[in-house]
Amino acid sequence: MAVAGTSVRNRTMAVVGLQWGDEGKGKIVDTLAESFDAVVRYNGGANAGHSVVINGQRFALHLIPAGILTPGKKAVIGNGVVVDPEALIREIDGLASRGVDTSGLVISDRAHVVMPYHQAEDGLREDILKRAAEDEEFGDSTKVSHIGTTRRGIGPCYAEKVQRSSAVRMGDLLNASTLGPKIELALRMKRATLAEAGVALDPKTLLAKALEQGVRLAPMIQDTTYLLHEVLAGGGSALFEGANGSLLDVDHGTYPFVTGSSCTSAGISPGTGVPPSAIGRVLGIMKAYSTRVGAGPMPTELHDDTAHRIRERGREYGTTTGRPRRVGWLDLVAVKYACMLNGATGIAVTLLDVLGGIDELKVCVGYEVDGKTTDRFCADGGQLATARPVFKTLAGFKEDLAGCRSMDQLPAAARAYLAFVEEFTGVPVEMVSVGPGREQTITVRRT
Ligand code: IMP
Repeated sequence: MAVAGTSVRNRTMAVVGLQWGDEGKGKIVDTLAESFDAVVRYNGGANAGHSVVINGQRFALHLIPAGILTPGKKAVIGNGVVVDPEALIREIDGLASRGVDTSGLVISDRAHVVMPYHQAEDGLREDILKRAAEDEEFGDSTKVSHIGTTRRGIGPCYAEKVQRSSAVRMGDLLNASTLGPKIELALRMKRATLAEAGVALDPKTLLAKALEQGVRLAPMIQDTTYLLHEVLAGGGSALFEGANGSLLDVDHGTYPFVTGSSCTSAGISPGTGVPPSAIGRVLGIMKAYSTRVGAGPMPTELHDDTAHRIRERGREYGTTTGRPRRVGWLDLVAVKYACMLNGATGIAVTLLDVLGGIDELKVCVGYEVDGKTTDRFCADGGQLATARPVFKTLAGFKEDLAGCRSMDQLPAAARAYLAFVEEFTGVPVEMVSVGPGREQTITVRRT
């Protein structure tokens, strides 16, 4: 049942974020889902927030692939995802109460479980980091900073996965005899940390709750690796939905201000069991400007009226935490780096409408580091913090783009902005989004 070769590559596609997350991947996945049999999440957890608007109704998805909103599709939570069962059940119930059919949802038995102690650890580590940054002993506060995590337990859960023995996987929720000792072991390992946080967790209560969640989720838990291979070997198609963004990738992002998983297309294979040779097109999603949530460097960040205007027009508040997002000009050095990492074959530009009415648009085309100009991204949080952006100024557009449905309906300045993105990155722009609705999407046709 080996899946390889051009035929399978023509039936797969990855959708990945080219910035710091929140690029609008959910909407693009929703738009594309119709053409695929399975939509698959391969990384991240309930830290992610994909919002999709259908017929004026807004759906916020955290763990469930956006493909769930297209009837008849398999929505797969792969083994690379870290699952908070409570959040997942809440999400399933929330969708069901709004009439969404969730029967296509399947969850890998090998996906790791975010336990309450992971959330406690996440918060505690952030608090310690915050206090350390204020502690004179550490001197320069730029050397120590909290990460600004979502406090959803993502980092501690991935850490436990790598530590192994005490890690809980979804399959364990179905088996009290393996689950009990793992919870016991994990609490023993974390006793000192939890005591410091004043968190008292009773293993019996945790076990009972986890088993209850297991009973509820049991019909969805299965070996998704074989499932996906069967789909592909049988001539079916799969869309892989990246969570978070490439610049938050644990290896290639602005470390240590990153998340705990591999957010680029390279995360698909470990996160699903589908080999790299089976992945065809890679669509990179980028906003027409930059945003970032949490701490860490962002060379093009703005603190002025333009930032305020973009934040309000773009509704730049976290889908998961409600935090206002940091806003800045488009950083094309970062986007080009992300295209390189992902092997992007195409780009979708989202939220282009938000830039309407700004006289001049700046795009970052280089950095000045230690007095020298470079066109390379610095994937080290400390080094990037010293980079000063080198901007090119492009003409703005006054028109409201919300009603545009084809490239020729876009004003010339908006088309020139997109052409510059293509020229700088060397990757064709294939889609443009001019509003949250499914219909507000332009597919670029080339003759
Ligand atoms: P964690 O993933 O909760 O550990 O957070 C690590 C960093 O990633 C923080 O800066 C978060 O704000 C950021 N982050 C995690 N998930 C997302 C996302 O989906 N969108 C934007 N930022 C995210």
